[in-house]
Amino acid sequence: MKLPVTLRVNDREHGLIVDTRVTLVQLLRETLGLTGTHVGCTTGNCGACTVMLDGETVKSCSILACDVADADITTIEGLAERPGELHPIQQAFVENQGLQCGFCTPGMVLSAAYLLAANPEPTEEEVRHAISGNLCRCTGYHYIVDSILAAAQTLKAGRLAAGGVGAE
Ligand code: FES
Ligand code: FES
Repeated sequence: MKLPVTLRVNDREHGLIVDTRVTLVQLLRETLGLTGTHVGCTTGNCGACTVMLDGETVKSCSILACDVADADITTIEGLAERPGELHPIQQAFVENQGLQCGFCTPGMVLSAAYLLAANPEPTEEEVRHAISGNLCRCTGYHYIVDSILAAAQTLKAGRLAAGGVGAE
């Protein structure tokens, strides 16, 4: 069965006819061409397919696309402020060797973005807890944790410079 669905992805609205069996990650990758969201296990375990749904992280392999009509979806492609730029969390991953093959990275970065939005100055333990649903086969996690802690500092510096929330 197919249904008409409107999805808002990275601030763009898409009116689509969607097969009710299609998962959100299939739609993002195969219909919208947003291949930054990766597919690993397809069983909700690895976190490679993590995206933001109304500000919360979800595993897009475990959600049917037709069930998220009218939600606001953010993928890794929509995280930075402008196309072609890196978000400070992505930049921190680059600078702190937070990735090797990069397969887990989009999911890690979005989990980090969720954490830092809720808890701008996390402890190492809180970072490790926040990425506990994201598996990495390469890095041993140490540099990923370093990257997220570094991103927290960069974002804090940005807030201080702007005199905004979190400025002391
Ligand atoms: Fe979705 Fe692994 S592909 S959690
Ligand atoms: Fe290779 Fe994480 S960098 S799976």
